[in-house]
Amino acid sequence: MIVVFGSINMDLVARVQAIARPGATVLSRRADSFFGGKGANQAVAAARIGRGGPIAIAMVGAVGNDPFGKACLDNLRENGIDTQAVRIVGEPTGCAFITVDDTGENAITVASGANMALRAADLPQSLLSKASVLVLQMEVPLGENLEVAARARQAGVRVVWNFAPVPAVTERASMTELLAATDVLVVNEHEAVSIAAAVAMSAGEDYLEAGKAVARSFATTCIVTAGARGAFAIGADGSQIHAAARPIAPVDTTGAGDTFVGVLAHGLGEGLEIGNAMRRACAAASLSCLTAGAQAGMPFRDALERHLAQG
Ligand code: RIB
Repeated sequence: MIVVFGSINMDLVARVQAIARPGATVLSRRADSFFGGKGANQAVAAARIGRGGPIAIAMVGAVGNDPFGKACLDNLRENGIDTQAVRIVGEPTGCAFITVDDTGENAITVASGANMALRAADLPQSLLSKASVLVLQMEVPLGENLEVAARARQAGVRVVWNFAPVPAVTERASMTELLAATDVLVVNEHEAVSIAAAVAMSAGEDYLEAGKAVARSFATTCIVTAGARGAFAIGADGSQIHAAARPIAPVDTTGAGDTFVGVLAHGLGEGLEIGNAMRRACAAASLSCLTAGAQAGMPFRDALERHLAQG
């Protein structure tokens, strides 16, 4: 089983020609709502790729007692995800305000709401004991993440931690604790540089050097996703594996990183070695950018296999 402990949001999305600068107003024809939240997105990506297979996906999260919360829960269930550990709380369901420009690039503000009510105790030991992989991100309280990561390590469950979004203040002590509890860290170029800076490793702006420093110092595997340049896995011994991304004309890049993480976690749960899991994850992430909305373009296994077979 793969357990995702993380955020569940409703995404309110406006397409714009160019994302507004601070203080500016831009017009959009309309707003659309899509299912989102990094945790939920990663759970859906894993569930789509594994549909009909032996690996179950469970979501641990919190939603409000409101129409968004009900819709988000229904969506997770429709994707075949176990939602027994999703708690309904007094805060409103998390909501993300997203603008997507003509190049498919986005800017996101998350109103966390119910996500901040998520507690480590919401992950029952009975569920954790069935897991082979635990997936974490940074949209729920860090202390709760750290607690479930420690429990997972103790139970022999592999911890895949997606360090996104980067907190406004990255404290060295909690970063050190986070990295020590992580088996596979997944970051983008900027996050790699921020995390290295937070733990006082000067790598400048070089994301591969940053990834190397983090992997070596914390005896972890650091995967750096680099958009069109694909992804790089850096081992504690400095070894490096590259998975290329296929050229695409993106419609919406929202959720591409989450697709990568969910499909990667599923591959690791299946026992793939990291390079193969990454190649599959890169291809899935590219496909996810071809449709508007974080989850709408996430591929099912057969679509991904067809895409990979095209070479
Ligand atoms: O990674 C994309 C996600 O970030 C969106 O779905 C939004 O909800 C925010 O959490």
